[in-house]
Amino acid sequence: MKRKFTCTIAVLIFGACAMLYYAVWAQRNAAAFADDSQRRSGFDAAVLQNSLQMVEDGRKIFRFDTFGDESFWGDTLHLHQVLNTLPPSTALALGLKIDSHALSPSLIEAIKQGKVNLGDPAVTRLLIKQNSVLGVVGFFNGNGTLRSVGLTCALCHSTVDDSVAPNIGRRIDGLANRDLNVGAIVATAPNLQPVVDLLKLADAGITVSDVLKVLNSWGPGKFDAELFLDGKATNPQQVTNGVVTGMNVPGATLIPNARGLAGHNLHTWTGGWGTVTYWNAFVAVVEMHGVGTFFDPRFDDAAQFPVAAAAHLGHISVDPDHDQVTGKLPALHFFQLALPALKPRPAIDFDPAAAARGDELFSGKANCNSCHHEPLWTEPGWNQHSADELKIDGFEADRAPGHAYRTMNLAGLFVRERGLFMHPENKGRFYHDGRFKTLLDVANSYNDRFSLGLTDQEKHDLVEYLKSL
Ligand code: HEC
Ligand code: HEC
Repeated sequence: MKRKFTCTIAVLIFGACAMLYYAVWAQRNAAAFADDSQRRSGFDAAVLQNSLQMVEDGRKIFRFDTFGDESFWGDTLHLHQVLNTLPPSTALALGLKIDSHALSPSLIEAIKQGKVNLGDPAVTRLLIKQNSVLGVVGFFNGNGTLRSVGLTCALCHSTVDDSVAPNIGRRIDGLANRDLNVGAIVATAPNLQPVVDLLKLADAGITVSDVLKVLNSWGPGKFDAELFLDGKATNPQQVTNGVVTGMNVPGATLIPNARGLAGHNLHTWTGGWGTVTYWNAFVAVVEMHGVGTFFDPRFDDAAQFPVAAAAHLGHISVDPDHDQVTGKLPALHFFQLALPALKPRPAIDFDPAAAARGDELFSGKANCNSCHHEPLWTEPGWNQHSADELKIDGFEADRAPGHAYRTMNLAGLFVRERGLFMHPENKGRFYHDGRFKTLLDVANSYNDRFSLGLTDQEKHDLVEYLKSL
């Protein structure tokens, strides 16, 4: 009897506890539900819906939109004629990348087994037709040959993870294609006269063979966005810390990653142009020759921008009904800022113990944090510095309106240092012209330029830290 009574008490206590627990749980859940339902309706829901739509639209534009630039690359330069007879092996050697997601499983299997004829130009046309060649959009005749071709942002600012074969795999939006030889590709165009005519505005004597020489001097992973503004093809003297390290160095800069850029004020290597959306409009209209509107009265300065001033490149305007760029800028901007930097894996991509010591140095003895401010890795605010301050030559800085260099992002450096998703010979290369082959070269140079007094061990630790960002 007594035992039964104890049992009843125990059941009652347990029941009370369960009810109390349930009450607390229900109350918390109701709060979360209210929060969630608010997010799914009304003004908050509109924001969420808008952000998802912007990312979707922006991704599509970034990957596949030519902005109508086929009227330049295809209809004017006739680049499609080259693609019609280009074997896939040559396309891959020029650095073009293939998105495996766009291919059928049987084609992927055939590629893996080496059964696809990489010498057959028909295969190149098929790959373009399936929208699998990053940044290349084909326009086809009924018989399967190309009648025109356009280019997209993804050409330079995307690569693949090589998961199927070298140069073939899943897309990585925003990661620079360090293998792409833009200059060599443009140099194959059957009609370069429009490019020659433009550059003649700065140098009347320039010929097609001069232009070919310049284009072929760039090499993989580089492009010269300022050439078509100022006509300057080479840096007469590359100088680091007062020492001349090169003469007549090609003026092309490395293609930067377009990831991890949210929170950065000024963009590109030299900053002073403006924000991401400024640069997007500029590139789409002035560089890619999309059909759109672009305005920048700074280009009227004929001393700094002889080509742009003469060609009125700061005053390009099309009527809104024909503008294929302006309406796409918001989503494109939103998408780019949504791309996070790639994350390194401890003990695989960097040594965690050494990186922890490097962290102390970065904001201490090495003084890197004074410009590359953690965790943005650039200055919150006005993020650029003069060439004198950096103790390097001002050639590239002086080609931009700000006459300065932008404090570059450091997130994701391990990809380049380790040479991931690129041909081994193209790995490394830091600073705008790639003057430093490795991160240790960068650390050594800062040590000399700013008399930091770092030991070899400290430089090693600093490099491991840079690889951990
Ligand atoms: C032919 C290759 C090429 C194409 C195509 C191209 N870019 Fe770029 N992009 C570059 C290079 C090179 C730079 C660096 C320019 C400089 O600093 O002078 C750059 C810089 C940028 C930056 C600045 C990144 C940073 O670190 O701040 C953004 C953003 C960008 N591009 C977006 C785009 C968009 C959007 C498109 C398509 C409309 C596009 N690019 C097309 C080569 C290219
Ligand atoms: C005075 C400001 C300043 C300081 C101090 C500074 N940097 Fe930089 N850093 C820059 C600028 C500006 C650039 C871009 C240079 C260019 O355009 O070539 C840069 C570029 C880099 C790059 C190359 C990024 C790339 O994408 O190629 C690395 C790596 C780097 N810095 C690391 C460091 C380290 C490590 C330190 C400390 C030892 C340091 N920086 C100190 C301003 C600074």
